[in-house]
Amino acid sequence: MSVMYIRGGNPLEGELAVHGAKNSVLPILAACLLARGPVTLTNCPRLTDVTTALGILRCLGCQVEQEGRTIVVDPTGAVGSTVSEEQMRAMRSSIIFLGPLLARTGEAHLTYPGGCELGPRPIDLHLAAIRAMGCEVREDRGIHCQGRPKGGEVQLALPSVGATENAILCAVGADGPTTIINAAREPEIGDLQSFLNTLGANVRGAGSSTVTVEGGRPLSGGEFAIMGDRIVAATLLSAAASAGGRVRLRGVDWRHLATVLSVFHQAGCRVESRLEYVELKRDRAKPLKGVPTIRTAPYPGFPTDAQAPVMAALAASQGCTLFVETMFDSRYRHVAELMRMGADITTEGRVALVRGVERLHGARVEASDLRGGGALAAAALGAEGATVLSGLNHIDRGYEGLEEMLRVLGADVERREE
Ligand code: UD1
Repeated sequence: MSVMYIRGGNPLEGELAVHGAKNSVLPILAACLLARGPVTLTNCPRLTDVTTALGILRCLGCQVEQEGRTIVVDPTGAVGSTVSEEQMRAMRSSIIFLGPLLARTGEAHLTYPGGCELGPRPIDLHLAAIRAMGCEVREDRGIHCQGRPKGGEVQLALPSVGATENAILCAVGADGPTTIINAAREPEIGDLQSFLNTLGANVRGAGSSTVTVEGGRPLSGGEFAIMGDRIVAATLLSAAASAGGRVRLRGVDWRHLATVLSVFHQAGCRVESRLEYVELKRDRAKPLKGVPTIRTAPYPGFPTDAQAPVMAALAASQGCTLFVETMFDSRYRHVAELMRMGADITTEGRVALVRGVERLHGARVEASDLRGGGALAAAALGAEGATVLSGLNHIDRGYEGLEEMLRVLGADVERREE
């Protein structure tokens, strides 16, 4: 079993370019199915979820090459319309192949996706969107969709990121125009729009609640660079807030992190936001302060994916912080592990009350989901003594070489076999 061995207490110092965003590259890889020529993607993070997506593309008949952070997908020979149960279980994002498959072949056969670690994660909104565009959906030991999408009006009951992306991807190949109402506004949807338009699509409105798609335009091959990962950035900033020191991150747009930066500012960190970088400085001699209620919400609200890392930083602080998780039912699995490290946190349903302690201490802890894993690493860096972190398979789904990134910033971290 691999574990991360983290010795806390070193302040973090230095500069790092944040790698490409998992939540951007996954829908963009699925979107490659819509192209009629090879697509070159740069700044792709090397993550196990990316490997899963490439496996799906290969099974569907695409030629795929990966060299470092560049991926070339040639979908010219793609004929398949089925994603296997194993691939669907490997990650929640496998569902994002539904829209492109329908757009390309008029048919899609999938099973229910995995990724249940945050509580129930239904796909009803994805299916409702597909139906609204004129496709037939049958749920019978899996999901079977049939029919060329015609386009139409998609009213999302909730601004779901995945359902918005699936609707856009299906609509691009539809015979007529589509309007998506109550669309999610996350920056990664903007990246998907830019990618599709680079290939010749006409998608407008990403970043607002209404997205329009012309539909039916043939897409060429092309080249595109994936945006930086704002959640990786939030995790590294949480690590710096936890350990103290000064960290400068490049490759992310600070505006995508505005709510997270505001929390760190209120907690007593010095935050500098520039076009080219974002920097966080915390004097280790001065404790962090508790902040007013942090309520997760769809973008531009406080991201649910940053809840665990920010909680890890605020676990050692003066005062209390109340967290309200409005997005997922079960997103406090890191709390029990933080408590092993000496944190004082009470949860009740979707609410968690963090009573700041003076300092955490090292312990053996286990990540049980991706961002919870990032949070435990951040906590360990500010803690006294050594932490042994297991469950690295979760961390590797979304952080490319987390221990190397932290080492660049001066942390005492190594991966060991136990
Ligand atoms: C995406 C992100 C994930 C992030 C989440 C919320 C990717 C690959 N993943 O996940 O990192 O935590 O957004 O910002 O981009 N819902 C339904 N029915 C559906 C779909 C969603 O009820 O058909 C609910 C979910 O249970 C959840 C809420 O809508 O309560 C938001 O989920 P959604 O935005 O769809 O998250 P994902 O796209 O899965």
